[in-house]
Amino acid sequence: MMEKKNSLVYEEYNDITELDAADAALLQQARDITKQAYAPYSQFQVGAAALLNNGQLVLGTNQENASYPVGTCAERVLLGTAANQFLDIPISAMAISYQGAKVISDHPISPCGMCRQALVEYESRMKQPMRLILGGMEGHIYIIRTAADLLPFAFTSTELK
Ligand code: THU
Repeated sequence: MMEKKNSLVYEEYNDITELDAADAALLQQARDITKQAYAPYSQFQVGAAALLNNGQLVLGTNQENASYPVGTCAERVLLGTAANQFLDIPISAMAISYQGAKVISDHPISPCGMCRQALVEYESRMKQPMRLILGGMEGHIYIIRTAADLLPFAFTSTELK
């Protein structure tokens, strides 16, 4: 038996003022778009903003449903829009933020398991790592170098060949 270790390297910033201008603008877009989330059931409004290689911006918010499992997270709403509107143009970075009546948005959230799987598929399809910028409406921020770092031992298309 060999014990093996898999560790995650990521960056932590005290607040948005420490980010470079492009990352700060993207996080601000994610913060702003939280207002357009449709989250009447959880009251947890998530906003995602992606910067494409061609400079275009794509936004997404969570879209809930009275039949709860039908709801879709902001990240996957965004990926669907990006794939349809900007076919084959990689996403260089995605920022994710949130707000809600029942929570204090002063720390980062990270994508749920299903979204991690979707993000990993997207960056592998685009053959380019997607940086993730995670932060609340205020407080500290994490930057992850590639979505794949959030899903060790991912199930990928290579298993199907
Ligand atoms: N949600 C997202 O949109 N993204 C995340 O990263 C975490 C959770 C949504 C799903 C649901 O509409 C609400 O937040 C509460 O789970």
